Amino acid sequence: MSTVSLKELVKVYGREIAVRGIDLEIPDKALTVFVGPSGCGKSTTLRMIAGLESISHGELRLDGRLINDVPSRDRGVAMVFQSYALYPHMTVRQNLEFSLKLAKLPAEEIELRVARAIGVLELGPYLDRKPSQLSGGQRQRVAMGRAICREPQVFLFDEPLSNLDAKLRNQMRVEIKRLQRRLQVTTIYVTHDQIEAMTLADIIVVMRDGIIEQTGSPLDVFENPENRFVAGFIGSPQMNFFDGVVGLSEGRAYFENRHLRLPIMSTRFGDVVTGGERVVAGFRPEDIVPEGHGVDPSHGIELISKVDFAEMLGNETLLFSSVGDTEFISRMQQPRLVEPDETLAFRFNVERMHLFDAETGRSMRTAANKPTEGGIHGFEGKPNGSGDYRVASDRGDERPRGGNSTLPR
Ligand SMILES: Nc1ncnc2c1ncn2[C@@H]1O[C@H](COP(=O)(O)OP(=O)(O)OP(=O)(O)O)[C@@H](O)[C@H]1O
Ligand SMILES: [Mg+2]
Repeated sequence: MSTVSLKELVKVYGREIAVRGIDLEIPDKALTVFVGPSGCGKSTTLRMIAGLESISHGELRLDGRLINDVPSRDRGVAMVFQSYALYPHMTVRQNLEFSLKLAKLPAEEIELRVARAIGVLELGPYLDRKPSQLSGGQRQRVAMGRAICREPQVFLFDEPLSNLDAKLRNQMRVEIKRLQRRLQVTTIYVTHDQIEAMTLADIIVVMRDGIIEQTGSPLDVFENPENRFVAGFIGSPQMNFFDGVVGLSEGRAYFENRHLRLPIMSTRFGDVVTGGERVVAGFRPEDIVPEGHGVDPSHGIELISKVDFAEMLGNETLLFSSVGDTEFISRMQQPRLVEPDETLAFRFNVERMHLFDAETGRSMRTAANKPTEGGIHGFEGKPNGSGDYRVASDRGDERPRGGNSTLPR
């Protein structure tokens, strides 16, 4: 059992506040990922948990025990860094043994633990090599092995894969995920890469400017971003945003600007809109479907637009178009050659429209209309994708009236 609890955690460096009061409960056995742009305080938070940085304010607890002032080596945590931090003059075996010898563990115990790490990470062939004789991926495995040998209560990873090339990074990502499941050790992982976060995490913590913007399962933060920042940060290519206002007509609410008129579905937004408010509509690239390519949305509103540019990726093609001055990217699931300047009909899937308050950036979806439960309360040590969180399904019976909403450019 290893839960980590952060209460109003603050880190001040001189005049700069790097972490501005973080509240977070990290459940036992979960793989929790801190993600956010550079400088948002991910590493600082992790280093406070590791005991490598002092805590300016707030409480840090491990299994309920206050550990603010407990020295790093007595916290039961092991950290893996981006730089690997291996001892260059030692062999792989010596690197693995070092901290255990320092802790004066009995020789048999050291041998047992090292053997286990070697087995798990398949380090057998490299034991007598020095780090300089290893590839990046192999070095990273040694660094993880060293952490495993310490049999910590909590693993901490700070961007451990960012020195690797793309292919190896994907491979190691899968290895880390497997390893974490096998060892069932509470893990906190820091990355600025939202794809890494989505694929690894049981729980994603999205940070910005020293605060947490949202916490939830990967599916939850993707489906129900609480604000425009999270909506734009999670998902690739990023969500398209359109400025507009809420218009009311015959008791129906619409998102409107000079070029678009899209019904706001009450199944998704309840009664939160009153009419006249300035809003931002958000559509993911897969929710703007070029007609005849991919699943035609049952609640789709058509827009005719020219394709400025097409990016062919093989399994899909990304189309760059615009409505008025606003560029948008759509995803063509059944790719074909698209000529530059070709005109296409795009169907906006209004069942999947997001709406944000233009001023505050907050999502206008009310809790009552969110199909997933969100938060981390549902986590019981089940790995990602185990069906812990319900999938958003938003089939309402409301039918927008198409026809008059089809606005050619
Ligand atoms: N030792 C330090 N002294 C002063 N300021 C610091 C120190 N370490 C970090 N900071 C500042 O604290 C803020 C958060 O830094 P942190 O390293 O936690 O960011 P990060 O989210 O890990 O970013 P990255 O993705 O670039 O690693 C930054 O503005 C940084 O400049
Ligand atoms: Mg960092």
